[in-house]
Amino acid sequence: MPFRGTLLLVASLLATASVTAAHSCDFYALGGTPCVAAHSTTRALYALYFGKLYQVTRGSDGATTDITPTFIGGVANAAAQDRFCSQTTCTITRIYDQSGEGNDLSIAPPGGNGYGPQPGGYDNPASAIGSPVKVFGQNAYGVFISPGTGYRNDATTGIATGDAPEGMYAVLDGTHYNDGCCFDYGNAETSNDDTGNGHMEAIYFGNNTFWSSGAGPGPWIMADLENGLFSGQQITKNVADPTITSRFLTAIVKGKPGHWAIRGGNANSGGLSTSYSGSRPAPGYNPMSKEGAIILGIGGDNSLGGQGTFYEGVMTKGYPSDLTENLVQANVLSAGYTALPLTSGPPVNVGSTITFQPTTTGYTNRLLAHSGQTVNTQIVTSTDTAAQWTVRTGLGNTNCVSFESVDTPGSFIRHYDFVLQLETNDGSKQFGEDSTFCPQIPISGKSGANSIRAWGYPTRFFRHYENVGYIASNGGPEAFDSQAGFNDDVTWIIKAL
Ligand code: AHR
Ligand code: AHR
Ligand code: AHR
Repeated sequence: MPFRGTLLLVASLLATASVTAAHSCDFYALGGTPCVAAHSTTRALYALYFGKLYQVTRGSDGATTDITPTFIGGVANAAAQDRFCSQTTCTITRIYDQSGEGNDLSIAPPGGNGYGPQPGGYDNPASAIGSPVKVFGQNAYGVFISPGTGYRNDATTGIATGDAPEGMYAVLDGTHYNDGCCFDYGNAETSNDDTGNGHMEAIYFGNNTFWSSGAGPGPWIMADLENGLFSGQQITKNVADPTITSRFLTAIVKGKPGHWAIRGGNANSGGLSTSYSGSRPAPGYNPMSKEGAIILGIGGDNSLGGQGTFYEGVMTKGYPSDLTENLVQANVLSAGYTALPLTSGPPVNVGSTITFQPTTTGYTNRLLAHSGQTVNTQIVTSTDTAAQWTVRTGLGNTNCVSFESVDTPGSFIRHYDFVLQLETNDGSKQFGEDSTFCPQIPISGKSGANSIRAWGYPTRFFRHYENVGYIASNGGPEAFDSQAGFNDDVTWIIKAL
């Protein structure tokens, strides 16, 4: 039987046996292009994988734990994470490689174009709770990358170097993106620096138009080949590269000597389409000079401006066939990715007018208020309109909320450089995202209270520090990130008037 026929037969047998009979990397192996890196915080990417998926680190004491699937080939044990992280914060500090090649991702070191906010210039870790989903009907969490967050492995095994062929796919959030550089997943420099054209081959997702673009306003799947995000053959617009509008997407970039391709589709329905398949751009991209490091959420030189959400992704040895990728897409569809609510705890209802009262001992006689642009806690009563906020549907994400000033209609609480400010809504995407917050169960566990997570920076919460309002992380570079007093300072009693 010809190889293609065998593959189809085996695939259909596996697919009918059980939904967990074969996963993405099983199909790549069947196609003769095995995974040499397989990363996911949501699920096993092999039917028989039962090892570690990712590591979380707890804010309260720095302890770590590894999250595994709940059964062989299954979904990540989100309940174990929730227990471990109860009444504190958690970040994702390692994403394990399921392929057996040992290509784990850890927090990215500083690079030629990006010095991260953590000690030594390392990037930020992602929040462990920024992107809750259901996969195969079970709760799991994706990797929510804010600007400044990134993962890397500079010492890999089995990843393509030079002009060697490879393929990649990733499942991403089609609604979380920006025009910064560069939300990538894939092959990059081992030196953390830009070493020239053709030294990268990675999936890019976003609406950056500095180099290329696709049809419509974006976001688009493009390829980061270094010194350029490519939607097609050259640094130009490729109208065959569509704007992505689905909540979940499957993104593919693959390359072999003299040739590369972009494919993509809705990760919830339908198949994959090819937006580019053709020759390499020139000059410097043919032959390629791939170096074999792996990046997630950043550019090759650690450019830190991108944002996006990663659920799963792999890199292969060899150039996968379209047929193999179609089977991978069918497996992704079977996973049934569904977004879960971003809010929890006592409801904070759209349309209500509220006050925020600190819960820190010694500060409960205050309310979060504003004086002009400054947002701070003040000794005022709930009759003072400077302390009254109308809850609106989130300007940047309708699953969370925004807070409009009662005495200055049209002005909202937003963060800027992580400081809370009152500003007029200018209608921009940045303003909307900076003024979108997700009330959740209180970090301190105090009954009847909420913590208020920043949608775009889910490691950060409304905090008063020396009575000034910030979005603070639990331990971080700024004084207002201080771990001392964190749990109480980020816990508020929200009262409807
Ligand atoms: O190719 C786009 C970006 O350019 C790369 O990710 C980065 O290394 C360089 O700044
Ligand atoms: O508050 C953090 C960031 O600071 C905001 O997202 C951005 O608008 C500003 O640069
Ligand atoms: O905002 C008042 C206090 O200032 C906070 O409780 C404390 O963490 C900081 O010193």
